[in-house]
Amino acid sequence: VLAEKGNHRHFMEKEIHEQPEVMGRTVSHYVDAFENSVHEIAGLDFRAASRLIIVGCGTAAYAGEISRYWFGSLARLAVEVDIASEFRYRDPVFLPGDIALFISQSGETADTLEAMRLAAAAGVQTLALVNTPHSTIAREASLVVPTLAGPEIGVASTKAFTSQLSALACLAVLAGRHRGHLDRAQEAGHVASLLASPGLMVKALEREGEIEQLAHEIAGHPTVLYLGRNQNFPLALEAALKLKEISYIHAEGYAAGELKHGPIALIEEGLPVIVIAPHDALFDKTRSSIQQVASRGAHVIAITDPEGARALEGEAARIITLPKGSQLTNPLLFASAVQLLAYHVAVYKGTDVDQPRNLAKSVTVE
Ligand code: G6P
Repeated sequence: VLAEKGNHRHFMEKEIHEQPEVMGRTVSHYVDAFENSVHEIAGLDFRAASRLIIVGCGTAAYAGEISRYWFGSLARLAVEVDIASEFRYRDPVFLPGDIALFISQSGETADTLEAMRLAAAAGVQTLALVNTPHSTIAREASLVVPTLAGPEIGVASTKAFTSQLSALACLAVLAGRHRGHLDRAQEAGHVASLLASPGLMVKALEREGEIEQLAHEIAGHPTVLYLGRNQNFPLALEAALKLKEISYIHAEGYAAGELKHGPIALIEEGLPVIVIAPHDALFDKTRSSIQQVASRGAHVIAITDPEGARALEGEAARIITLPKGSQLTNPLLFASAVQLLAYHVAVYKGTDVDQPRNLAKSVTVE
């Protein structure tokens, strides 16, 4: 692959900054920007679907987890998400009307490929959300839905993730229309928000300087917790994965509502707790989690939007304020902040950002 770092120190940094462009490219592939509608996709019909099964590994699986909230609320479509290595060995149940979606940047991940073969053998329609058009998963799927992220070189996935989310958001809107749960105006609203996401992402990335400062604060800690609710819960898992992968700091993501069922026991003076807290429908619940951990001494870093920042003033030790997004665009915008945080912790610690120890870009053997 011919790829250059340009002015960036690492491919990962370059790829983080390419996100506005690749999100725009991916969304443009799926939508009509004049009608503010999602294009039909030949061979894909969510009307009669009884369930959507989503399978992937690592970051791709987390993109699937986030989209479960969208398919549920926009299309009333039941979604089951699994990591490929579990799915393929648990003798999965397939039901009439199932559609199975396999998410993979490389299109070559062994477990994801085998999971897809299993679904195909059961007679289930297989969709592949892939970034590599000539990959094995793309070739064998009944239908390919592409992400248009371009080659991703950094082992830790960034722009492939946000491209997957962009495409999944479009598919959820399509499913919502197919299933009669989104009217014309609602569809237009969602599509308009997706079309606005690259511009908002540019603004989100402008927080890099502040995030770099915070990265220096947490780089010396042995453990970091990430909390989020609803669609921000899988994003918290992805955030923790990013930090682990490249900085080798132990990190855990938790659903904020689970705090009292264990993780709160870990809170001690100075423990960094990073809370993904957009001012959404569940903001007050997230805010109360912030109060609970802060009162036990946690060093709370809240990632929020302008309205959330006003509410959290004096409650979180640090606040990163991103632009206000929508239900569909918030996870994309908030992803950029957690990517930059992991990136700058790793740079500060001097790890090999693009080639972290023991990890491979694509896991083609079990
Ligand atoms: C490896 C990579 C991850 C990636 C995962 C799935 O673990 O390091 O960045 O998320 O594989 O890869 P895929 O190509 O299937 O998306």
